[in-house]
Amino acid sequence: MSRQEIRGTVRSTPRSLASPRVINIHDLRRLAHGRLPKVVFDYLDGGAESEVTLRENCRVFDDVTFRPRQAVAIPECDLRTRVLSADLAFPAILAPIGYSRLMHPGGEVAAATAAEEAGLAYTLSTISGHKLEDVRAASRGPVWYQLYLVGGREVAEGAIDRARRAGFSALVVTIDTPVAGMRERDPRNGMKELLGGSIFSKVPFLPQMFTHPRWLVSFLIDGGVPKLENIVVPGKGPMSLMDVTAALAQAVVTWEDMRWLKRIWTGPIVVKGVLTADDAKRAIDEGAAAIVVSNHGGRQLDGAPATLRVLPEVVAAVNGQTEVLMDGGVRRGSDIVKAICFGARAVLLGRAYAFGLAAAGKAGVTRALEILRDDVERTLRLLGCPSVSALNSSYLNIPKHW
Ligand SMILES: Cc1cc2nc3c(=O)[nH]c(=O)nc-3n(C[C@H](O)[C@H](O)[C@H](O)COP(=O)(O)O)c2cc1C
Repeated sequence: MSRQEIRGTVRSTPRSLASPRVINIHDLRRLAHGRLPKVVFDYLDGGAESEVTLRENCRVFDDVTFRPRQAVAIPECDLRTRVLSADLAFPAILAPIGYSRLMHPGGEVAAATAAEEAGLAYTLSTISGHKLEDVRAASRGPVWYQLYLVGGREVAEGAIDRARRAGFSALVVTIDTPVAGMRERDPRNGMKELLGGSIFSKVPFLPQMFTHPRWLVSFLIDGGVPKLENIVVPGKGPMSLMDVTAALAQAVVTWEDMRWLKRIWTGPIVVKGVLTADDAKRAIDEGAAAIVVSNHGGRQLDGAPATLRVLPEVVAAVNGQTEVLMDGGVRRGSDIVKAICFGARAVLLGRAYAFGLAAAGKAGVTRALEILRDDVERTLRLLGCPSVSALNSSYLNIPKHW
């Protein structure tokens, strides 16, 4: 390799994101914590109520250990998988993360570009500060649109029509938000006041902004609180950014809505938020092309089970009739490998990439995806398994009581 190429390689990962400063996702979380005001960091990091489900999502991966096959040489390790007919470089998809543009001005556009460069799919949340057309244009890879019914059916039909014309390849319908979970950190930090309140109501919460000048400057240059560019009310234009509690209060989706959605969206529908065999079967009956076993990253019903714990039940119930994805608590490539061994086709990454976005925009997402990809390959080689498609439960020790 020439000097130039070496310099080029070094430049592609900024020193602040390279090893030894950033070795794992926890390092990106630490950088995000340093860059963001408390209100934004806690919005990203926190969960509902006592955060039991949030913690369990991560912890439960430790209950499952590996059964490696030793003394196996693997000249080529194949990490690829296919989800909804799209090839992914390794079995991960970027989950919808609302308010991404508050974390970094690049927001959803930056994340979609990093996903494409890593050979992965990206899911755009309804609660997005960038126009869906701009996000689609930022990636030549698969991009999915996640739907909340904020603003009602007419508004949703407008967004779905735009998503179809822009070339989104799947519609993700999130079913676990009849109301917002009680994310206790948000009201304490003044999330609602900072996003929409009067200047007087904001005052008590402003000091956290001034102690994070790097974030504040980029936020102000980006124009301050963004509009919700994909929730366009006829005759009024894009909705103003609102507090998540207010947004999700309007977001409830029912099985009856699925029939209406099947009429207006002819592409694949992914049902996100399944936690039981019964709901998995119902989603299949309603025509879901894939389901996501998810508890919204522990942000909705605290006390809901960890997703890895219910994955086997759902995989058994689905019995190959649809693709099963999962999310929640994935922070290492070994977590991804465990989920695949249990029968998931791929995982959705939530905070794992969003910490990178908050820490350093697109470069941070790229670093997060690089870490996870390398983890997956190393884990497969240490397991003596040549490919993601060859993974199964024989590579795991599963607790007897599961
Ligand atoms: C800050 C944040 C915002 C989120 N916004 C949305 C959203 O707009 N729509 C949605 O379906 N899920 C949303 N989720 C849930 C994620 O899509 C995903 O299910 C969850 O983050 C997975 O858990 P993990 O963060 O532990 O990986 C959000 C999660 C976080 C952390």
